[in-house]
Amino acid sequence: MRVYLDNNATTPLAEEVKKEMADSAGIFGNASSMHKDGMLSRNLLEKARQKVSSGLGCSPDELIFTGCGTESDNIAIQGFLRGTDKKHIITSKIEHPAVLNVFKYLHNNGYEVTYLDVDEYGAVDPELLAGALRKDTALVSIMTANNEIGTIQPVKEISERIREYSKDIVFHTDAVQGFGKTDIDVKKMGVDMMSVSAHKINGPKGVGALFIRKGVKIKPVFIGGHHERGLRPGTENVQGIAGFGKAVEIAMAGMKEKNEKTGRLRDKLKEGIIRSIPNIKINGHPETVLPNTLNVSFRDVEGESIIMMLDMEGISVSTGSACTSGTLEASHVLLSIGLDHASAQGSVRFSLGVYNNEQEIGYVLEKLPGIISRLRDMSPLAKKSECK
Ligand SMILES: Cc1ncc(COP(=O)(O)O)c(C=O)c1O
Repeated sequence: MRVYLDNNATTPLAEEVKKEMADSAGIFGNASSMHKDGMLSRNLLEKARQKVSSGLGCSPDELIFTGCGTESDNIAIQGFLRGTDKKHIITSKIEHPAVLNVFKYLHNNGYEVTYLDVDEYGAVDPELLAGALRKDTALVSIMTANNEIGTIQPVKEISERIREYSKDIVFHTDAVQGFGKTDIDVKKMGVDMMSVSAHKINGPKGVGALFIRKGVKIKPVFIGGHHERGLRPGTENVQGIAGFGKAVEIAMAGMKEKNEKTGRLRDKLKEGIIRSIPNIKINGHPETVLPNTLNVSFRDVEGESIIMMLDMEGISVSTGSACTSGTLEASHVLLSIGLDHASAQGSVRFSLGVYNNEQEIGYVLEKLPGIISRLRDMSPLAKKSECK
């Protein structure tokens, strides 16, 4: 039995998406060509643009296709800043590296960055944000939902604070994890730019999109031809984009019911863990959280060891920490919500998807307590805490 609970990393392709992509595989023309073959590709592209923009609540001419969520973030942030002289930018301490590392790069290249603290659940306080706004603030980027702990940010309140202060500050949100799992509507949320990615919603890898509100001026980050309004030059990945369109269509249909089902399974997993394993901590917001995400710290064990042992039992999960060049580095998200290094390193993210079922959750609950107990028996950390 294989149980896949790493859907925040990526998701399996939906059957309908596979079919859409297979059906469009024979359409090979360059979408910029004037002839019939080109027109067939252009039609697929525009049909997908219609579907993705309708999922975001924007008009199709406010949406460009990109190569992934990371690319969308870079085009939004760097592209906007290329067109303004203002040098102050704001983000949170728990953004995905696709945003955080762009801010670090900008900081090293003449920008002044405010990194907002988050509370113990990982939420940004809109008042804290309001207090950080300045006359020379060019852009704010706050994610819609966090990829490690699932906390959903008060995006609408944040945008209201920004608007109260100034009409000129641009607000970008990375909605790569929020799209398909929370209510998304760029107009209601009041955002100027939004990044999304196909492979998080049962679409193909290597396809993303960026909403840019009419009137927001972006300069190209990649230099080339006129594709995607000159902002993402290069011949479009028509087949992947067609798959993205289909993925959005099926993600939006019955989203509420699907989220309720995922949420039920996630809660069953959470309650089972709480019942059967002592010395744990649930990370993330108790209510304002993605329905599919559960992040747990297991005291006195390494998250990496849990992952390996679960993998041997056929269960795929992730840590809340990243492993860089052989040295274990604790997750910046977990440290920002106040966990110490040991707890951050003993954390595991279970991220469910639309294809998980009760039986799979039961199987995880059957295997996990024994694994934690065996690891604690071997752990020098556990021995130390027994001595206390
Ligand atoms: C919040 C967030 N932003 C951006 C990304 C990057 O998306 P992509 O893999 O499409 O570049 C991810 C992927 O994990 C993510 O979770």
